[in-house]
Amino acid sequence: MPISAVDKIWMNGELVDWPDAQVHVLTHALHYGSGVFEGIRAYKTERGPAVFRLTDHLERLQRSAKLYFMELPYTVAQLAQATKELIHENGLEHCYIRPIVYRGYGEMGLFPLEAPIDCAIAAWPWGTYLGDEGVKHGVRVKVSSIKSLDNNAITPAAKACGQYLNSQLAKIEVMKGGYEEAVMLNNAGFVTQGTGENIFMARGGQIVTPPLSTGLLEGITRDAVIHIAASLGHDVIERDFTRSDLALADEAFFTGTAAEIVPIREIDDHPIGEPGPLTQEIQRVFHEVTAGRSSAFARYLEYVDEAVKA
Ligand SMILES: Cc1ncc(COP(=O)(O)O)c(C=O)c1O
Repeated sequence: MPISAVDKIWMNGELVDWPDAQVHVLTHALHYGSGVFEGIRAYKTERGPAVFRLTDHLERLQRSAKLYFMELPYTVAQLAQATKELIHENGLEHCYIRPIVYRGYGEMGLFPLEAPIDCAIAAWPWGTYLGDEGVKHGVRVKVSSIKSLDNNAITPAAKACGQYLNSQLAKIEVMKGGYEEAVMLNNAGFVTQGTGENIFMARGGQIVTPPLSTGLLEGITRDAVIHIAASLGHDVIERDFTRSDLALADEAFFTGTAAEIVPIREIDDHPIGEPGPLTQEIQRVFHEVTAGRSSAFARYLEYVDEAVKA
C-alpha cells in the first residue's frame, strides 16, 4: 500500500523534513533485519486525534528490543510524547504510526551488539489495510504452505523487522493464488495468525483464538477484542484449533492495528459467509471505542492535543 508523505519525521530526538529521513546503505538493519518496530493508529475524535493504546504499543516495542539485546535510547514516556508532537506538528487528524528502533551504521557482521541503535517515528494517513470491502463483507483467505516462526527459531513474541520475511512469503503465495490474506499454521498444524493479524473464530456462540504458546504476536487489538467481547458477555477461549475448525466456523475474523477487525468470508475455498452477529457486534464496539464514544474503554485512548498543550 502506498505511503502518503507528510511534513516531518521524528529521528533520534529531532523532527526532520520527510525527504531528509534517510539512512546509510550500510545500515546494519538493512542487511540483517536487526530492528524492532510498532504499528499504531491514531483516530479522529471530538477531542482531536487520539492514539489507540499508545503506551501499550511502546511497551511492546521495549519488550521486542529486549529480546534482541537492544536498549531503547528513550523511555516509553519520551517516545509517547514524541509521537504526539509528531502527529500535532504534521496536522494529522488520524494516521498510522510507525516507530522503529534499529541497529544503524558503523558495524557489519552477525555480532550486532557494537552497532549504534537508532530510533525513528513516522506517521501518515493510511486507509484500512485489507480494503473497505473486506471490512464490510469479509476477505477470502487461504492457509499458506509457509509455516509460522517457531519459538526456537525467531521468536514470534517480538515484532522484529527480519521476521516479516516469513509473513511476506506467505502473503505472496496466497495473493498470487487470488486470495486476499494468508492464515499461517505452526509445525504442529495449529492455526497461529495471519501475516500481520491475529485470528479469531466462533462456533456455536463460542469465540476462540489461538493461545500465545502456538507462536504468535501478542496483538494489542487481540487483547482489546478479548476485553470488548467480555464486556458484551462473551468469554473468549484461548485454545489450539486447526484449519478444518476454521472451515467449519460460523464466523471468523482477523484483528490488527493496520487491518483493524476484518471478517473472513471464505477459508481454503470453504464459504464462511458474510460477517456474522458476533463479528459485527465486536466491530461496532471497536469503532465506538476508537472514535472516543465508549466510556467503558476510554482508557484505551491517549489524546494528542491535550498532551502537546500540557
Ligand atoms: C504477525 C502479526 N500478528 C498480529 C498482529 C496484530 O497486532 P496488533 O493488534 O498489536 O497490531 C500484527 C500486527 O502488528 C502482526 O504483525
